[in-house]
Amino acid sequence: MSNKKATLTLDGKTYEFDILDGSVGPSVIDIRSLYAKTGMFTYDPGFTSTAACDSTITYIDGDAGELLYRGYPIDQLAEDSHYLEVCYLLLYGELPSAKVLKDFELRVTNHTMIHEQMHNLYSGFRRDAHPMAIVCGVVGAMAAFYHDSTDVNDPIQREIASIRMIAKLPTIVSTAYKYSIGQPFVFPRNDLDYASNFLHMCFSVPTEDYKVDPVIARAMDKIFTLHADHEQNASTSTVRLSGSSDANPFACIAAGVACLWGPAHGGANEAALNMLKEIGTVDRIPEYVARAKDKSDPFRLMGFGHRVYKSYDPRAKVMQQSAKEVLELMGVENNPTLQVAKELEKIALEDPYFVERRLYPNVDFYSGIILEAIGFPTSMFTAIFALSRTVGWIAQWKEMIGDPQKKIGRPRQLYAGAVARDYIDIKNR
Ligand code: CMC
Repeated sequence: MSNKKATLTLDGKTYEFDILDGSVGPSVIDIRSLYAKTGMFTYDPGFTSTAACDSTITYIDGDAGELLYRGYPIDQLAEDSHYLEVCYLLLYGELPSAKVLKDFELRVTNHTMIHEQMHNLYSGFRRDAHPMAIVCGVVGAMAAFYHDSTDVNDPIQREIASIRMIAKLPTIVSTAYKYSIGQPFVFPRNDLDYASNFLHMCFSVPTEDYKVDPVIARAMDKIFTLHADHEQNASTSTVRLSGSSDANPFACIAAGVACLWGPAHGGANEAALNMLKEIGTVDRIPEYVARAKDKSDPFRLMGFGHRVYKSYDPRAKVMQQSAKEVLELMGVENNPTLQVAKELEKIALEDPYFVERRLYPNVDFYSGIILEAIGFPTSMFTAIFALSRTVGWIAQWKEMIGDPQKKIGRPRQLYAGAVARDYIDIKNR
């Protein structure tokens, strides 16, 4: 806490509120006593000025385009670390020693299979169901299979549920994919690293040998790492709010999956690639830029803009380089979608509309190009985002549940509806 106080004057009375300092970033005015003292609430739809919790996991400086997991810059983690090490870092706060990491990887790989009965769930869905609908349902259904890890008051159960979800999400997502294309489900292989195992479950078939290309596995791993956490975004806040009622962890993560699906959030990677394809050729870009600027047209440049980043999204930088490497490996560096993306980015970054509003490419702008080059259909993109973000949701959920000051999340409202009135019998209406 700092020595500074914020004062509020209302109807001639003055109230004082503490100012709390974080380790870095904006300080906050502690208004927890506001209602008790003044009988008023604050009003902040969209939470643009509200810190809903304190956290030690992820830090974003939107102006500087900086993203840190437990203090480590995202570009260093994407280049020099790998996803399971990043998972450990997010969950436990420090980088592991070699021995601790090995032990963690073993714990995760021990849980990669899903309960055999869970396969039956898949056949209940239509083959053309969106993978996010399936993933949301199957993750929620985990509470019906793993009864021994649903007690949120038991730290050991919380730990097992966490490891189970990190381990099983690749299996759940790849099984949704296999179901959608009518191929046999592929079991996980615990001798493969996390990303390679996911690619193996998505793209191998029982009739042939499948070798995962290390460049593709590395690109996949980077996508996982870049999406692993992003502080209090909509889906993470959804997970925290769900968890604040002591709902079981599987239900909370399923709620996060549901929220992520929206096109303003995780669904933007699917929408961004669809948009780039719809634009198709560089000569059509001005038409789409004009539409994005036209306030009477709901169209927005997908993969552009961010609530927090008012500068280049640091994840997009890594993603752009990774897209180049993957397309070169595939011998398709002249891929028309990448050409449209690069040109669109150039035009938008020079256009006063985007410059004035500080709209830059976000993580979703290039990720779809990589995922498509790897062989995923657009409908799988958000499910892959969900898989990657699961660890962030879990780390945030665990932090909240372990906080002795935890309270059920219960926002208030500015009521603008009818005042109390008497019921009118239907005959008299
Ligand atoms: N294209 C055109 N105009 C835009 C865009 C865009 N992509 N994004 C924002 N604007 C304009 C918006 O119309 C508004 O203009 P004005 O001030 O004249 O009314 C101004 O910029 C501010 O926009 P906002 O909607 O108030 O900003 P926000 O912080 O509420 O929204 C956003 C952030 C990400 C929802 C929004 O930028 C957007 O819809 N982007 C496209 C979808 C997208 O790429 N989402 C992925 C986000 S990154 C992955 C993730 O974290 O989930």
